[in-house]
Amino acid sequence: MKSETWTRKQLVNAYLAFFKSKNHKEIPNSPLIPENDPTVLFTTAGMHPIVPFLLGEKHPLGKRLVNIQRCIRTGDIEEVGDEVHHTFFEMLGNWSLGDYFKKEAIQYSFEFLTKTLKIPVEKLAVTCFAGDKDAPKDEESAKVWLSLGINKERIAFLPKKDNWWGPAGKTGPCGPDTEMFYYSGKGKAPAKFNPEDKNWVEIWNDVLMQYNKDGNGKYLPAKQKNIDTGMGVERTLAILNNLDDNYQTEIFLPIIKKIEEVSKKQYGKHSGETRAIRIIADHIKASIFILAEGISPSNTEQGYVLRRLIRRAVRYGKELGIKDFTPSLVSPILFIYSYDYPELNKNKNFIIEELKKEEEKFEETLEKGMNQLKKIITNKKISGQDAFLLYQSYGFPKEMIKEECEKHNICFPEKQYEQELNKHQELSRTATAGRFKSGLADSSEATTKLHTVTHLLLAALRDVLKDENIMQKGSNITPERLRLDFSFSRKLTDEELKKVEDLVNAQIQKQCEVIREEMSPEQAKKKGALGVFDKKYGEKVSVYTIGDFSKEICAGPHVKSLNEIGKFKILKEESSSAGVRRIKAILE
Ligand code: ALA
Repeated sequence: MKSETWTRKQLVNAYLAFFKSKNHKEIPNSPLIPENDPTVLFTTAGMHPIVPFLLGEKHPLGKRLVNIQRCIRTGDIEEVGDEVHHTFFEMLGNWSLGDYFKKEAIQYSFEFLTKTLKIPVEKLAVTCFAGDKDAPKDEESAKVWLSLGINKERIAFLPKKDNWWGPAGKTGPCGPDTEMFYYSGKGKAPAKFNPEDKNWVEIWNDVLMQYNKDGNGKYLPAKQKNIDTGMGVERTLAILNNLDDNYQTEIFLPIIKKIEEVSKKQYGKHSGETRAIRIIADHIKASIFILAEGISPSNTEQGYVLRRLIRRAVRYGKELGIKDFTPSLVSPILFIYSYDYPELNKNKNFIIEELKKEEEKFEETLEKGMNQLKKIITNKKISGQDAFLLYQSYGFPKEMIKEECEKHNICFPEKQYEQELNKHQELSRTATAGRFKSGLADSSEATTKLHTVTHLLLAALRDVLKDENIMQKGSNITPERLRLDFSFSRKLTDEELKKVEDLVNAQIQKQCEVIREEMSPEQAKKKGALGVFDKKYGEKVSVYTIGDFSKEICAGPHVKSLNEIGKFKILKEESSSAGVRRIKAILE
C-alpha cells in the first residue's frame, strides 16, 4: 500500500478516474432528500437515485455509471459513537445497467483495490451469498475471486442477513452481494478469514442485482441484471491511512479539533468523552447537510430526524460541559466540504440560525423535563415507565436520569427502563420499513391520543369493510396527525370512509376506559387480540382493550379513557403499496 497519506479528494478522484477508464459515465451527486421515493426519508445509498434505471428505464448516459453520493442512514443511530459508524457518509459506487455482471464487476473491484489503491491481496478477504429459498449459493462469484488470487480460506459464504442487499425502500431492486474486507489488525492477517473477527472491516460491497422485491415481500427475478456497488469513503480513507478510527481522518479532524477547543476536553483520553465528541461531530455534520437542503427541525419526517440529531448532539455536549456550541461547528464542516457542496456555503446563515434556534428550544424542553423529574423524585422512587417517558418526551438521556437519581439516593429502575425501551423498539419495527425509527414520533399528549384512536380506526375498518384479514402494516404518528397503513386491496368509497369515521366517533363518545393487561403472546392470541404473530414478541406483551370494540397488542402510549379525546376526522385515503392502503387522519 502507498505509504504516503491519502486525502478524500485523491480517493474520490482515483475512483472516478478508474471507472471512467472502464467506460463509465459520472452521474451527479443527488440531494439527500429523495425526489422520487416516498418510502424512505433520505438517500441511503448511491443506487437510490437511479432506481428507475435499475428497473429497466434507459439512462441518458448509458449502461455504465459511476459517482460519489452523499447519504444518510438513521437505522443505527444508537451505534454512532464508536470508530466506524456514521449517520452521514459518502459512498463511491459504480453501476452496470443490464451490461456487465458478476465477473467484470469483481474484476474491476479487485483491480481497483490492488492496483490503484495498492492494497496487498494478503490483506483482503471476501464473502459470498450462502443460498436460501430465494436464491442459490453464489459459487460463481467465489470462482471469480479464486481466479484472481483470493485464497479459498479467505472466502466465506454467509446467509441473507449478511450477504444480501436491498431494496433501499419497501420494494424494488435487490439481490445477493459479495463483500470485500480488509484486515486492519496489527501484523500479518490470519490465513483463514473469520467474518466475526472485528479486525476484518468491510470496505466494498458489490450487489448482484437480480431480483425485485414486490409489495407482498416476494423476490421476483428482475427483467434486467444489474451491478450496484458501494464503497464508504470514511472507512476506506481510514484504512488507506492506516488509521483504525474513521474520526481521525481529515473529514472529521477539523470538527473534532473545534469540539476539543470549545470543551477543553481531549479526544481519545476518556472513552465516554471520546464517544460524546464523535456523536457530536457525526450528528452536526449530518444536520448541516440536511439543513442545507432547506429542511428545518420539526416533528415530522426529515425535520424530525434533524431535530433528533441536533438534540442528541446537544445532550452529549452536556457530558462535555458545553452548550450553545452547535453553530461553532459550521465553519470546520464547511472547510471540509464546501468545495464539493456549494449549497453549504449558500445556506450558511440559515444553517447557523436554525442550529441556534433548535438548541435554545431544546434547552427549554430540558428545563421542563428537569422539573418533571424533580417532581417524580420527591416520591423517592421512579418507575421504568417514568424514566422512559422522560427519555422519550423530553429527550433526556438515560445517563442524565441516572445521575439525578444518584444525587437523590434513588435506585434507577434499569431493568424496567430497558423493558420499556424494548417495547418501544418492537413497536418501531412494525413501522414502515426503511424509515427512521418513528412509528411514534414522541409520547406527547397529542400523539398519545392519536395513537389510541389508531386502534379504533383499525377496528372500525375491519368492521365496516367486513374483512377479518385487514391488519396493520405500519403506522407513523406525529403530534399533528396519525397515519395508518393496512392490508386491503382496493380504494375505499366515500361512503365507507364516512362510515368508518362515524363508527370511530361513536366509540369515542362512549368514553370507554382503555384497559391494559399483560400476558404471553399465546394468551393474547387466544383472547383474539390483533397482532402480527409471525414477528418476534417478547415473553410478555401488553394488550389494550377499548370497550368491546378493540383488542390489540401494542407497545405504545395510550390514554386511560376516551374522555375528551376530540373528534376524529379522516383527511385522506390512498394507496401505500401493492395490497396496502393508507389513511391519514386527525383529532379536532
Ligand atoms: N447499495 C449497496 C450498499 O449500500 C452497494 O451497500
